[in-house]
Parts: sequence; structure tokens; C-alpha cells
Amino acid sequence: MRMRAAVLEEFGQPLVVQEVELAEPKAGEVLVRLEACGVCHTDMYTASGADPSGYSPCVLGHEGGGIVEKVGQGVTSVAPGDKVVTLFSPQCRECEHCLDPRTNLCMAIRAEQNLGHLPDGSTRLSRDGEEIRHFMGTSTFAEYTVMPEIALAKINPEAPLEHACLFACGLSTGLGAAMYTAKVEEGTTCVVFGAGMVGLGAVAGARLQGAERIICVDLSDERLDLARGQGATDVYKADENTVQWILDETGGMGADYTFEATGLVNVMQEAVESARMGWGLCTVAGVAGKGETLDIVPRLLITGRRVAGSSFGGVKGRDQVPELIDRYLAGDIDVEPFLSHRITLDEVNKGFDLMEEHNGIRSVIEFN
Ligand SMILES: NC(=O)c1ccc[n+]([C@@H]2O[C@H](COP(=O)([O-])OP(=O)(O)OC[C@H]3O[C@@H](n4cnc5c(N)ncnc54)[C@H](O)[C@@H]3O)[C@@H](O)[C@H]2O)c1
Ligand SMILES: [Zn+2]
Ligand SMILES: [Zn+2]
Repeated sequence: MRMRAAVLEEFGQPLVVQEVELAEPKAGEVLVRLEACGVCHTDMYTASGADPSGYSPCVLGHEGGGIVEKVGQGVTSVAPGDKVVTLFSPQCRECEHCLDPRTNLCMAIRAEQNLGHLPDGSTRLSRDGEEIRHFMGTSTFAEYTVMPEIALAKINPEAPLEHACLFACGLSTGLGAAMYTAKVEEGTTCVVFGAGMVGLGAVAGARLQGAERIICVDLSDERLDLARGQGATDVYKADENTVQWILDETGGMGADYTFEATGLVNVMQEAVESARMGWGLCTVAGVAGKGETLDIVPRLLITGRRVAGSSFGGVKGRDQVPELIDRYLAGDIDVEPFLSHRITLDEVNKGFDLMEEHNGIRSVIEFN
């Protein structure tokens, strides 16, 4: 079929919205009609050329929500008409990692996904016979996408997709960091560094887990206000005294849980230093620049602090994204404040501009 899609033609240049060809879903694959898609930093990072593993031409986009149109041979977990959220982090339910509760890093299709292929090593996207590669296994800056069944979360049909699509990446990453990676316990103190989509999600996750005190740190007053709306009990405008302030606020000890959601290694270091002696757990969710390293004084670890990394919040996508969306539908998570701009597919580059200006939390592309 022919469809419109935003193609990354050249790094550092605007995406080009154009007609491309999308082939039928093969065995184990599903054709999804997109209704909404968030614009995330990872899309912009790849478009800029800064991502060393990037490639072109490809169709970007990974925060998609849509409706199943057609299924390939052998697909049993979704059917035409189902509402789905796309998963850049799939869940095959069979590999060593899927069978272990300690990780969400499914091994089933990693290698081919990283190359921009569907699991059989080919692409469904093309233009005049020339192959166009998929991005993160999702390519949702497009009217339709073909994806493996194991990378689709079937969600409650009541959920509006303009909100549900945010659970495809940033929001679930933050919620999950608190709920599934750190497993925040009731009555504890948490500190969240960064109040973007990921950090605000972590604030909400800490609240859902029953944390007593949730401190959010950011440079922007506007974002700190949003953090209060998600359940932060204290906010602090980041400066060179951030760690000392946190120590003072916690009787000199530091917090039970800290979360880093900025992607800055110096902030990761602050998050480690703000975790308390004995059992403080620092969860790192931000993605640092290539080659950057995190400095930790070993004494901090010997005296009981621990550091964990969290990819997609440790969320096992097909099982847990629907559960998170049910909590949203139950009124436990307030998603509307994150949706700052509604744009069309043709305005996708405006979504990048708004992000660069730190204007709002998320722009969402609406298809109709
Ligand atoms: N682990 C994953 O699977 C995953 C998924 C999505 C995004 N990410 C990463 O998470 C990070 C956050 O993503 P986002 O979409 O929320 O980004 P964002 O840019 O919207 O938010 C980052 C926030 O950090 C704040 N900040 C900057 N310097 C700070 C400082 N010194 N102290 C405290 N706050 C500071 C900024 O003001 C901003 O509000 C990025 O690195 C992103 O790549 C990781
Ligand atoms: Zn993302
Ligand atoms: Zn798996």
C-alpha cells in the first residue's frame, strides 16, 4: 500500500514527509493504522546524526498508538480492531530474559531491530524499489506501520490514543523506574532529578508506590510546577548546592531512592551522592552521550549505596503497559498535562523545534 511517512533522508536535515510503499504483514507481523504518536528525544537524536548507530533513509517514530488493521499468518495475540501501543522494547515471552522477572530486555529480535530490519531480516518499507529501513522496530511517524506481534501491547479500548501513546516510551520509562526497577516502598523518601517526561513519570510512579516524600529537582520553574501536579511534595531548582540541600533535608543521610532522568553524567553523580548510606538506591534512566562515563567514589558503594540502570523502566511491555494504562483509566495517573502540543504529521519538524526550545513536555502527532 501507499502511505505518507516522515523520512530521515539526511542527518542534520529536516525530515521529509512523503509517500512511501508499505508491504503486507508477513508471518508473525501486524499492520497497524497509527492514530497518535509522541515526538521523543531519541527521534531527534537520531535525526541529528549524533547517534553513531543511526542510518538513513529510515522512517523515525516510536511512541505510537493505533488500531490493528490486519494480521499476518500465525498471529494470535491481537486481531483487527484492537487498540495497541507500539513497543520498541518487545516481549516474546519465551527467551531467557522474558522468562526472568529481573529484566525486560527481550533478546528475540534485538540484532535485526538494531539494523533497521523486521525479524526476518528484510524491510516492509520502500520507495521506488529502494529499501527504507525501520527505526527501533516501530517507524511510527507514518500513517501505518508493520510490526512484529511481540512488539505490540493490546490495551483497553477505552483509552484515548493521544494519551496512551505516551506509554510507548517516556511515561512508562519514568513510572517503571519507580515501580519496577526501584520498587519504591511505602513511606520512603525519593528524589527525582529532571522533570521531563521521564522524570515526571518517576514522580508519579513514586507516588503510586506510596512514597511519603518526593523531591523533584530541575532547572525550570514551569516543570517543577508540573512535578507538584504529579505528586512531588518538595521541589528544588538545581544549582551547585543541590546535593548538600538534599542531605540537609534528609537529616544528613540522603534519600532512600534517587532517580536520574536528565541524561547528564554530572547529574547521575549527584543522584548517587544523594542516595542514603546503608540502602540508598540510585536508578539511572537518562541516556548519556557516547563515550561519557559516570564517576563514583567507591566508598559510597561500600557504605551501602547501590546503582541500577533502567531501560524502558524495566517494563515488560505486553504485560505491563496495559496494566499502567488501566491505572491511568482508573484516574491514578494524570496524563493530560504532558500533552503540550497536538501537531500533524506534516508538522513533525515543528515537534523537534518545540523540544529544542523546551516548550512543553510532549508534542503528539495526530493522524486522521
Ligand atoms: N532508559 C530509557 O529507556 C529511556 C527512555 C526514554 C528516554 N530516556 C532518557 O531519559 C532522559 C530524560 O528524557 P526526557 O524526555 O524526560 O528529557 P527532557 O529533556 O524533557 O528532560 C530532562 C530534564 O532535565 C532537566 N535538567 C537539566 N539539567 C539538570 C540538572 N542539573 N539538575 C536537574 N535537572 C536538570 C531539564 O531542565 C529537563 O527538564 C534522556 O536522557 C532520555 O534520552 C531513557
Ligand atoms: Zn522515546
Ligand atoms: Zn523475549
